[in-house]
Amino acid sequence: MAILPIIIAPDPRLKAECDPVEKVTPELVKLMDDMLDTMYDAPGIGLSAPQVGRQQQIIVADVSKQEDVRDPYQMINPEILWTSKDVFSYEEGCLSLPEQYADVMRPKQVRISYLDKTGCSQIIEVEDLLAVCLQHEMDHLKGILFVDHISKLKRDLIMRKLRKMKKLEKKGK
Ligand code: NI
Repeated sequence: MAILPIIIAPDPRLKAECDPVEKVTPELVKLMDDMLDTMYDAPGIGLSAPQVGRQQQIIVADVSKQEDVRDPYQMINPEILWTSKDVFSYEEGCLSLPEQYADVMRPKQVRISYLDKTGCSQIIEVEDLLAVCLQHEMDHLKGILFVDHISKLKRDLIMRKLRKMKKLEKKGK
């Protein structure tokens, strides 16, 4: 178990498309466990492999928000099979865009297929916050950030703030 460094936007590694996983190996399972630890440590409710520098289709999530009742999801090659017409608006944030938030509208319910840690295929139907979170994490696998769903004006404002923050951090080192 280890805490992995999280890549902060803007960074080309967050804009790349991730490759599907061909084989579930012990190294991959370790990566997924490390990703979960990193997410809980941050703390956050979701994390994708590209955010820790791995261009692979892997996401983890836990929207329970209670340390004593954890409900983790670890998904390999997740794919959306169906989305509802109903939408759900939520003020999203991202561990790669620290302290930045914006309302994003997404389908309220989704059906997702994925491989679990043992390599078995699973299908789940989720809604509300978990649906939003998994869609956000799956976007990362295509190089899409939540700010890509909002107006250019708001996006530019957020990216400018992040660029400034990175500059200041570099100076501080
Ligand atoms: Ni994110």
